[in-house]
Amino acid sequence: MATYAQKDFDSDNYQDKRPGYPPSLFKAISDYHKGDRKVALDVGSGPGTASFPLLEYFDKVIATDPSDIMIKPGIEAITPDLKDRISFHVSSGEEFKNIEDGSVDLITCAEALHWINHENFFKEASRVLKPNGTIAFWGYIEPIFIDHPKSNDIYEKYVFEDDRYMGPLWKPGKHYLRYFFNDVKIPAEEFKDVEKHDYYPGKTQKKTAYFLGDENYSMKKFADYLSSWSAVHDWKRANPDAEFDVSQQLINELKETFKWDDDTKIRAEWGTTYTFIRKN
Ligand SMILES: C[S@@+](CC[C@H](N)C(=O)[O-])C[C@H]1O[C@@H](n2cnc3c(N)ncnc32)[C@H](O)[C@@H]1O
Repeated sequence: MATYAQKDFDSDNYQDKRPGYPPSLFKAISDYHKGDRKVALDVGSGPGTASFPLLEYFDKVIATDPSDIMIKPGIEAITPDLKDRISFHVSSGEEFKNIEDGSVDLITCAEALHWINHENFFKEASRVLKPNGTIAFWGYIEPIFIDHPKSNDIYEKYVFEDDRYMGPLWKPGKHYLRYFFNDVKIPAEEFKDVEKHDYYPGKTQKKTAYFLGDENYSMKKFADYLSSWSAVHDWKRANPDAEFDVSQQLINELKETFKWDDDTKIRAEWGTTYTFIRKN
């Protein structure tokens, strides 16, 4: 969390450069959910990427994040007609401050559970959810350039494998995302009806309700996306005197190897995963 809370982390840039979530994902959440649709709580909301779309299905959305920097663009995006329906608060995913027991119908956690202590998250979720209330958590895992499998080796080197680059900077959290949250332990005595849907680019045959792809991806878009990463931010802080920029070097190596320029169209798909759970 520390990186997202740093004063020089650019949360407006994050909001511009990160992908949103498709309407089909919110519809899938709605189809799964039973019971009231009064209050949804979006934990680790950042600028509200998932919080605003939830308003289509739930009367009120409470968005929380421990970083006041990350929620600022969300607060600024609340239009007068929405001011009684959505609010942003500073609060962690381990302790849901000011949320009463049994008061919430749905909890979402979008691209954030890997930063949160899972045991405490589920304990708090169980406390605030109504019986039969839903938890939906999901994440996306890196763009795969599906027509150029070898490019992914270069990508893996910079992002995970080689200690000179970003690998050591992800803190333990990213591991959970990289492996599609497979080792998140859901307390069976408190939750039931677990549904998990994974999409592995190039491997999964059928698209899930959460598909993220771009037929016209480019190194220009990739550079923008990298600029929103906490690990790129951390690498620059840790290497103020470096003669190269880690994201630029990754992009240069991809461009040189595949003879791409900034605008070459490249097909990209992201690995995605989402899980729905119901409270007993
Ligand atoms: C990759 S961003 C995702 C933001 C937003 N949910 C989205 O989908 O774009 C991860 C968010 O998790 C938040 N975060 C980090 N540590 C957290 C914690 N312990 N509890 C709750 N949120 C946390 C960060 O501040 C950041 O806003």
